Amino acid sequence: MKRIFPTSFYNPITLIGTSIAFVSFALIIFLMLLELTAGEQKPYMGIIAFVILPAILIIGLLVAIVGIIREHRRAKRRKDSEEYLPSIDLNNPRHRTAFLYFSFGTLLLLIFSAFGSFKAYEHTDSDQFCGETCHVVMNPEYTAYQFSPHARVGCVKCHIGPGAGWFVRSKLSGTYQMYAVTFNKFPRPIPTPIENLRPAQETCEQCHWPKHFFSEKMHQNTYFLSDEKNTKWTLDLLVKIGGGNSEAGPTSGIHWHMNINNALTYVPIDSQRQVIPWIRSRAPDGKVTVYRSTDNPINDADLQKYVSRRMDCLDCHNRPSHIYHPPQRSVNHVMTAGWIDPELPSVKSVAVKALENPYTTKQTALDSIKLVIEEYYQTNYAELAAKKKTEIARTVEEVQKIYSRNYFPEMRVSWRKFNNNIGHMYYPGCFRCHDGKHVSEDGKVLSRDCNICHTILAQQFEKDKLRISLGGIDYRHPVDIGDAWKQMNCSDCHSNQ
Ligand code: HEC
Ligand code: HEC
Ligand code: HEC
Ligand code: HEC
Ligand code: HEC
Ligand code: HEC
Repeated sequence: MKRIFPTSFYNPITLIGTSIAFVSFALIIFLMLLELTAGEQKPYMGIIAFVILPAILIIGLLVAIVGIIREHRRAKRRKDSEEYLPSIDLNNPRHRTAFLYFSFGTLLLLIFSAFGSFKAYEHTDSDQFCGETCHVVMNPEYTAYQFSPHARVGCVKCHIGPGAGWFVRSKLSGTYQMYAVTFNKFPRPIPTPIENLRPAQETCEQCHWPKHFFSEKMHQNTYFLSDEKNTKWTLDLLVKIGGGNSEAGPTSGIHWHMNINNALTYVPIDSQRQVIPWIRSRAPDGKVTVYRSTDNPINDADLQKYVSRRMDCLDCHNRPSHIYHPPQRSVNHVMTAGWIDPELPSVKSVAVKALENPYTTKQTALDSIKLVIEEYYQTNYAELAAKKKTEIARTVEEVQKIYSRNYFPEMRVSWRKFNNNIGHMYYPGCFRCHDGKHVSEDGKVLSRDCNICHTILAQQFEKDKLRISLGGIDYRHPVDIGDAWKQMNCSDCHSNQ
């Protein structure tokens, strides 16, 4: 065969290197064409075409260059010449061809790598990459995210945000995560709060202007008790979100007190930030008030041992996107919609129990849910089971759906592992501070009055008379627990059901 390149090119190492580079280049072109023509994107295609193959291509080229250098060294030793580096002589036709090929190849590589690195950047920032490439690991977050208000907001908008610094940081820690995933060294579940999550000012507040005024938001909740009749109970709450700007707009409500008008700093003593013995509030006029917990007293020396935290959006909205709902809430929800028939006896408690049994894999869970529910009606209500076949089948289907969106046994993820700080029913939430047991030096108590954060507009039990008042009615707990709900945190009982 006629040799068109300089002889130093013809050595096994260089030939192998070139072949590797050539094959990966051909594959990249093939995958790019496939991506352009295929309508729907495949999760692994991007990472192969724009991250893995280009890396192999570059390795191939490096191997080829190593081969040439080795060959040159050997030739130098043979000829005992003085030249340290290969000389390029454009009058030599072989050198000229090699030079042309090389220049053209470099140009092509530059163009493709510009395009490729853009695609690699775009791809590693896509929700698909975050959520699907690391299939098992991110599955809980990705699934919950798809059913959240932020389903159309990219993962990177909250986890990386704008600017080069955080981009580089995230790609560096991402490299470690790739290693952790490859070698199965990641924790299950992924621990929160995320230590170096970007501050809310630079993420949330890019879309949600902190001083924006929200008027009151109405929640109409329907609950079903765990008795045979699934006793129905409704509650209308007007949540006083508020906010605003003292120069321009109305100033009241939760956002105003907690985030705009007062700078709050607190000291949590557990990693989950659930136990808070000390809070300091600074008003715009500089007045400082310190509240201390009477339940968890702490002296100043011990206080120094913990890191304090300035309260921002994330201290309340810590789960804006990966919301794992408690089973009571999800089942109430689908029963309200009528997808689970409230006429099925004890269906609330059966559904909740089926969800809460400990399972080891998703598949066994889905199978067991079907078995548990069907068996329950077969044994206890045989006649009804025959009559209400479709309703029971639908119940099974809905409970399975709830399970697959909220429980991830492979990653040990469920609502119990991730406290949601909005509200106070299933998690301590607002009552971490507003438990009526945080007192300032001059005796001011952080109130847990039922009508400061929301107005309880109306309540109705089954067919009782509707109790309603625009000024707020006295709360009535759905089952008689005496005054316990006034003294204990709701979550003391409701996180254990
Ligand atoms: C609206 C903003 C937002 C979006 C969008 C978002 N996240 Fe998050 N994510 C958060 C916040 C806030 C936390 C921290 C929760 C905490 O500290 O308790 C978090 C936590 C996590 C965690 C830690 C484990 C956990 O469940 O808390 C993972 C993993 C995660 N996100 C992955 C993703 C992925 C993958 C996507 C895209 C599919 C995504 N996130 C989209 C705000 C967001
Ligand atoms: C890229 C823009 C963007 C970013 C960043 C963002 N959000 Fe949102 N947020 C949205 C959109 C869009 C909605 C949905 C609005 C709607 O459908 O009414 C939303 C809705 C919400 C809601 C209302 C949810 C509900 O139940 O209706 C809350 C609370 C919220 N975001 C908090 C946050 C927090 C906290 C962060 C930071 C971790 C954040 N957002 C980051 C765009 C964003
Ligand atoms: C003291 C706790 C607290 C803090 C701090 C806080 N919020 Fe809220 N926010 C709430 C509550 C409570 C609601 C009402 C939730 C509901 O109705 O379900 C709310 C509602 C919202 C909503 C939804 C409004 C709607 O119409 O549904 C958005 C958006 C929001 N907050 C964004 C933010 C942003 C951005 C920050 C930070 C600048 C922030 N919040 C800080 C407690 C807080
Ligand atoms: C870290 C402790 C802490 C947490 C958690 C907390 N708050 Fe507060 N909250 C305070 C303090 C301190 C004040 C009093 C500020 C002052 O000095 O005026 C306050 C005041 C308020 C006020 C004004 C009360 C009044 O008497 O007018 C509202 C409303 C409020 N908080 C709502 C909420 C809601 C809703 C949540 C949960 C989503 C929440 N807070 C969680 C510490 C907290
Ligand atoms: C510090 C503020 C605050 C105080 C005090 C407070 N709540 Fe709430 N509550 C909230 C917020 C915020 C929510 C809405 C949570 C959400 O978005 O689902 C809520 C939700 C609720 C719900 C609906 C729970 C659910 O998930 O279905 C009930 C019931 C309720 N509150 C009862 C009470 C009662 C009774 C009291 C008095 C003992 C009280 N609240 C005191 C802030 C407060
Ligand atoms: C001493 C324990 C205890 C305390 C404290 C408590 N509850 Fe309950 N709660 C119960 C029991 C028991 C039921 C009945 C559960 C059932 O039938 O499923 C119940 C039922 C409910 C229900 C309807 C059932 C559901 O989950 O759909 C709501 C809503 C409720 N409680 C709200 C609250 C609120 C809000 C607080 C705090 C202000 C609170 N509870 C404090 C024990 C308690």
